[in-house]
Amino acid sequence: ASARFTLDPAFAVGEVNPRLFGSFVEHLGRCVYTGIHEPGHPAADEAGLRTDVLALIRELGVSVIRYPGGNFVSGYKWEDGVGPVEERPRRLDLAWRSTETNRFGLSEYIDFVRKVDGEPMMALNLGTRGVADALELQEYANHPSGTALADLRIGHGDKDPHGIRLWCLGNEMDGPWQTGHKTAEEYGRLAAETARAMRQIDPDVELVACGSSNQSMPTFATWEATVLQETYDLVDHISLHAYYEERDGDRDSFLASAVDMESFIENVVATCDHIGARLKSKKKINLSFDEWNVWYQTHYHRAEPLNWEEAPRLLEDNYSVTDAVVVGSLLIALLRHADRVTVACLAQLVNVIAPIMTEPGGPAWRQTTFYPFAQASAHGRGRVLQVNVDSPTYETAGYGEVPLLHATAVLDESTGAVTVFAVNRDQHRPLPLEIALHALPVTRVVEHTVLADADPEARNTLTDPERVTPHPGEDTALADGALRTTLEPMSWNVIRLA
Ligand code: AHR
Repeated sequence: ASARFTLDPAFAVGEVNPRLFGSFVEHLGRCVYTGIHEPGHPAADEAGLRTDVLALIRELGVSVIRYPGGNFVSGYKWEDGVGPVEERPRRLDLAWRSTETNRFGLSEYIDFVRKVDGEPMMALNLGTRGVADALELQEYANHPSGTALADLRIGHGDKDPHGIRLWCLGNEMDGPWQTGHKTAEEYGRLAAETARAMRQIDPDVELVACGSSNQSMPTFATWEATVLQETYDLVDHISLHAYYEERDGDRDSFLASAVDMESFIENVVATCDHIGARLKSKKKINLSFDEWNVWYQTHYHRAEPLNWEEAPRLLEDNYSVTDAVVVGSLLIALLRHADRVTVACLAQLVNVIAPIMTEPGGPAWRQTTFYPFAQASAHGRGRVLQVNVDSPTYETAGYGEVPLLHATAVLDESTGAVTVFAVNRDQHRPLPLEIALHALPVTRVVEHTVLADADPEARNTLTDPERVTPHPGEDTALADGALRTTLEPMSWNVIRLA
């Protein structure tokens, strides 16, 4: 059996917002300390940032970088992370039962983001704090000069305002695990009042209200509806978070994780539009999928209790080629909804469920999941074309009958180049694929790369950092207005046409 679809520039989903290729840096484990920041490392710059890691982040191609949490932010005092480093307090981090030294804070984060050509995305503490603290941070960060807080920033050495435009109104406030967890009514009111006040300083800030921590939350959809009823005119985005893992050896269901991600997106869009209709509003709320990834949470929950260490090794999942194929499929899901998903953040960036790993004092290397993200970011820019696959299916315990082919395509209108991203979910068999593209001006296959391995457990490690890398695809040909190829079993494919 084979799979097929048709590409036609007349049928498009929408433009890809570069913010779709965002990531996330939380004060968690070794993401900040010995991840991006390690003064004394041979590759550290004058600010203590690891230049080997900065180079990998640039290669990964991340846009927005969300910070400083995550669960961490719901107990964080931003003031602890500004001013002379030697005067900064050590604090308990309740979210990860760690000790936070605050050697890295706002100024260091902005310096880091600029060095990787990223855009800041700042999360506010709406767990233990509220409107006043959010306003103070906004004034300290963004007001040019002439007020106590703006002048304090200047006194701390940052003459120019940081210009943070994108703000998250809290993190996972629907989750009982969140410090300062709230009901939807409580959070909706707090988010609305914070947003209203922030817009009094700057009407052009872009604000993200907290949606659900995942689609299985008991309050899912009611939470979004209640929060948006309060905040609809005041916010621009609502957040979604989702993590996937292989459970009980059910790899077939794991490979279909994007089915959940796509239905989550579509359900949140429906909920946003329902509230918009109820409010008779012309405005559309967009989606900020600001935490997504593969994360073996069951391993984390089985681990030893945490004991207030500094930068402990936490959530350091080592990803297999199977995980990378799923990450590729999740990227396809985001691209397929680029009309409404305008921000997305791979959680996280370094060491903590991350595409980049480091050793303290040692090297940095790429996990398997680095490759699909870097390729999607490099080539997934432009206009997403509609892809309706006609594909053989397979039966999964988690999601019922699922197409073996998962795909999307992006047209770069400035050059006419087209990139197809495709996953074959079949663990054991190759999948022949035919793409009809008569209406597109492409004449040749520039490149077909494949991420796949005979060993589904193959991984990159400290001692073998290049065990899994993309390899060229074979027998991929463009003739008579059709692209024909065969996708390797359980593979992530990038086919570039010009
Ligand atoms: O990314 C790890 C954690 O996952 C984040 O701190 C939290 O927001 C989510 O539950």
